[in-house]
Amino acid sequence: MTASAPHLWLRAETKKNEKRTALTPKVAKTLLDNGFQITVEKSTQGIFEDQDFADVGCTLVETGTWRTAPADAYIIGLKELPENDFTPLPHKHIMFAHCYKQQGGWKDVLGRFEKGNGLLLDLEFLQDDKGRRVAAFGYYAGFAGSAIGIDIWAHKQLNGSAPYPSVKPFPHEDELIAYVKERLNTAAAKTGRLPRVMVMGALGRCGTGAADFARRVGIPEENIIKWDMAETAKGGPFEEILNHDIFVNCIYLSRPIPPFLTEAMLVKKDRVLSVLVDVSCDTTNPHNPIPVYHDATTFDAPVLQTLAGDAEPLDVVAIDHLPTLLPREASESFCTDLLSSLLALKDRENARVWTDAEKLYHEKVQSMHA
Ligand SMILES: NC(=O)c1ccc[n+]([C@@H]2O[C@H](COP(=O)([O-])OP(=O)(O)OC[C@H]3O[C@@H](n4cnc5c(N)ncnc54)[C@H](O)[C@@H]3O)[C@@H](O)[C@H]2O)c1
Repeated sequence: MTASAPHLWLRAETKKNEKRTALTPKVAKTLLDNGFQITVEKSTQGIFEDQDFADVGCTLVETGTWRTAPADAYIIGLKELPENDFTPLPHKHIMFAHCYKQQGGWKDVLGRFEKGNGLLLDLEFLQDDKGRRVAAFGYYAGFAGSAIGIDIWAHKQLNGSAPYPSVKPFPHEDELIAYVKERLNTAAAKTGRLPRVMVMGALGRCGTGAADFARRVGIPEENIIKWDMAETAKGGPFEEILNHDIFVNCIYLSRPIPPFLTEAMLVKKDRVLSVLVDVSCDTTNPHNPIPVYHDATTFDAPVLQTLAGDAEPLDVVAIDHLPTLLPREASESFCTDLLSSLLALKDRENARVWTDAEKLYHEKVQSMHA
C-alpha cells in the first residue's frame, strides 16, 4: 500500500434508527476504481445490503471491528461513536462528531482523539474554497420535513384530533411521494382545498427541499409561499405566518433575530396555521426564532401540541434527524457531494479541504486546555 492509495474503513452505524451511510456502494466503486482500498463493516440496519458493497469489490468485515483496523486506515462513519466508551482513539476518523460547538460532553469526545494521538476530520466543517460546506444533508431534511408536515395536515383533515402515528423511513423517495400524495388528494377531496405551505429560508438547502416536496405532491406554486432574508428584513414577528396551513422553518440561524412567531400570536382564533415543522431545530438556542415549543420530537412521537388558549392547539414537528426518513436518497446525495473530497485524500497533505479540517481539529483540541 502506498501513500497515494488511501484505505477507507466504513464503520457500521450504531445509533438507533440510523439507516444512512457515509459511503454508498456507488461512491465506493468510484473510489475503488481510483485505487482506494475499501473495507466495509457488515450492518443490519443500513439502507444498503452488505452484498451491494461486496458486489462492487469492497472487503466485508464484522460490525465494530474498526478498533482493530490498520493504523493507516481512515475510519469513516456518520454519527457518534458508541456512548459511554472513553477509550483513546488512535485512528483518523471522518465523521460528524458534534463536539466543536461545545456541545454537552464535547471534551470527553475530543479528548479521546487527543489521548489516542488520532485525528478527527469532522464532516460538518469540510468547506470548499468559498467557505460553503462540501456535503450536507439539508436538501433531504427540508424534503422530509415538508413531507411530514403535509401528511400531518392531511391526517388532521381525515382523522380529526386522532394522534398522528409514528413514522418510519421509506426505502425509496417515490414511495414517500406516492403515499403523501394519495393522502393529500383524499384530504383535499374532503375539504375542497389544498393547503398553503410557507417555507422560511426558502433559498437554502433545506428550504429548496421543502418547496420541492410540496411541488412533487401536486401543491400548486401559488400555494407555496417562499420567504428568505429579503422578506424578513423588516423584522419579526410576522402575522403573515398565521395565514398559512403549514409553516416549514428552514433558516440557518447565525445571529440573534427577533422571533418569527410568539406564543401570544397562537391564541388568535381565526389562525389558519395548524402545522409547524421546525427543520432548523434551534430548540435549545436562546435565540430560537420560534419560541412556541421547547422540546424536540422523534420518529416514534413526531408531533407535540402547543396549547393556545381557546384556539386549536398547534401541531409541532421538531425532529433533528429528518433525512433519515429517506436514507437511500439522502446518503446518495451526501456521498456524491463528498466524493471529490474523498478522492483528494490521495494527496491529503496538499488538499486544502483536509489541511483546513486538520488545522481546525488542532485548534479545538487547544481550546479544551485554554
Ligand atoms: N432537522 C434536521 O434533520 C436537519 C438536517 C440538516 C440541517 N438542519 C438545519 O437546517 C438549517 C438550515 O440548513 P441549510 O443547510 O438549509 O442552510 P443554508 O445555509 O443552505 O440555508 C439557510 C437559508 O436560511 C436563510 N436565512 C437565514 N436567516 C434568515 C432569516 N432571518 N430570515 C429568512 N431567511 C433566513 C438564508 O438566507 C438561507 O437561504 C440549519 O440550522 C441546519 O442545522 C436540520
